[in-house]
Amino acid sequence: MERKWWMTTNIYQIYLRSFYDSNNDGIGDLIGVKEKLPYLKDLGVDTIWISPHYDSPMDDNGYDVRDFYKVSDDYGDIRSFQEMIETARKLGIKVLIDLVLNHTSDEHKWFKIASDPKHPLYERYHNYYIWRKPKYDKENKRIRPTNWISWFGGPTWDYISDVDEYYLHIFSKKMPDLNWRNEAMKADLKKMIKYWIDLGVDGFRVDAANHLEKDWDFPDGSPGYEYFSSLPKHHDYIRELAEELFIPNNLLTLGESGGASKGEVLKYVGFDSNEFNLLIHFGHCWADMGKDNEFTTGKWSKTDLRVSEIKKSYAHQYKVVNKSGFNLLYWHNHDHPRIVSHYGNDHIYHEESAKMLAITLYFLPGTAIVYQGEEIGMTNVLYKNIEDFRDVEVFTEYENMINRGLSVKETMETIRGRCRDNARTPMQWDDSLNGGFTKATPWIKTNYNYKEINVKNQDKDQSSILNTYRYLLKLRKTDAENIIFGEVEFFNLEDNDSFCYLNKGETKDYLIIANFRDYPITIELKDLDLNQFKYFYGNRFDLKKKLKLAPYQTGVFLREKSIG
Ligand code: GLC
Ligand code: CA
Repeated sequence: MERKWWMTTNIYQIYLRSFYDSNNDGIGDLIGVKEKLPYLKDLGVDTIWISPHYDSPMDDNGYDVRDFYKVSDDYGDIRSFQEMIETARKLGIKVLIDLVLNHTSDEHKWFKIASDPKHPLYERYHNYYIWRKPKYDKENKRIRPTNWISWFGGPTWDYISDVDEYYLHIFSKKMPDLNWRNEAMKADLKKMIKYWIDLGVDGFRVDAANHLEKDWDFPDGSPGYEYFSSLPKHHDYIRELAEELFIPNNLLTLGESGGASKGEVLKYVGFDSNEFNLLIHFGHCWADMGKDNEFTTGKWSKTDLRVSEIKKSYAHQYKVVNKSGFNLLYWHNHDHPRIVSHYGNDHIYHEESAKMLAITLYFLPGTAIVYQGEEIGMTNVLYKNIEDFRDVEVFTEYENMINRGLSVKETMETIRGRCRDNARTPMQWDDSLNGGFTKATPWIKTNYNYKEINVKNQDKDQSSILNTYRYLLKLRKTDAENIIFGEVEFFNLEDNDSFCYLNKGETKDYLIIANFRDYPITIELKDLDLNQFKYFYGNRFDLKKKLKLAPYQTGVFLREKSIG
């Protein structure tokens, strides 16, 4: 396998709005990122991915772009963007930005012209989006062209009376989908991508990549995902971008696509295909999702955690990419609950479970991502009122659940456990007001526990979660050969309590043994000569065929291979 720099890089995902507010207006910004780069360097990070920084009405916190060429006033300006990149460069940190290609804001000038038949450029821009004539029911009442349901919960079509047509939006109604079958639109997007490449970015995280193509027969279906997601032709669009822009400019691309089949994964990231370098997959993300029921559907429906599903998802990804591609490792991002609350335990075993999660993930082969705040064990929110939330998705789903008859109490509990705002609260830097994120009122409330959980508290404590992350990220660099390029073998894959694997490297093998539960467990390790392994890291215990592990107990053992 040809070695590439991005295989051994440690990526840190920055949720710009909530990272660090340098000018005290309550909103994180680019100078804030610049000021905290030394912190990231010290953490062991050498690539950052920044969530959308573009001008936007912030219906979906910047994923609704109003002007691709302008930095949002909330975040700074083009000067601060360049300053941030220059500082990153000096520190040896690469910068990836988010590329939103599936939709724009409804306030983007293209969409404004597209919905205004009187505009001289109407014909040109109308076709930048996806429009359909209304249907009429038996009573001759105007109805939507299809009954599809958007990823955020409501219908996917909204009506514009001036044109007497509905436009398609598979996310919020302020995010009309772009028409990728339109060559002029594509050319405009490519020009925009080139603009940011010329400004010096090292790559992109490509948002919602699998949604670019739609079924233009527009059949009914509810939710109808098969008609607007993962249609084969979206690969052509991505390959076109890769060939014309990503590959010639030597960029790193992370593509976001859920539920890709084996063939698709290889299309995205196979070394010989090269649409993207790394795929953001989701197989491990909702291992406690229940079945749809009368009150909740999809991720909102919760059941017991299936630890085996998490292991199987990773095992599956390794099998699929095998030696023909490279795998990406992460627990969660800005669209998920906080991992320590979701898969760990954010009260009595906060520290133990956060470290267990870090160790089990970062001894795996592949390229690693850390999500902002994960390195100090930031937790889910305990907001009491619906007004405390900010995410557009929360409000549609709140109504859905209440309309279906779920009590306010249970609805709030469901939202608190599953919503995206959990991952979007201000970064907790210290124990001062608002966790040191801002001196103003933050755009979203700081989490209740910032006085205990913050960078300053953990900085000097060698056994803290933060220092566990620092240690692991650095180890991934110094022993990349054995960790990042190792070959993984999971044990007891069906077991729903433990997380055990062997990562077999060039000169060393690492054995990871972890209890994923808040209760003691007993596990049996078969087919391994345990005498060959020495304790290496974690919570010390003796290796035995039959092992008793305390809640979240995690140990790493090492076998040096005799050479020659
Ligand atoms: C991606 C982003 C998410 C956003 C959506 C629409 O899934 O990660 O935050 O809401 O795309 O752009
Ligand atoms: Ca600010």
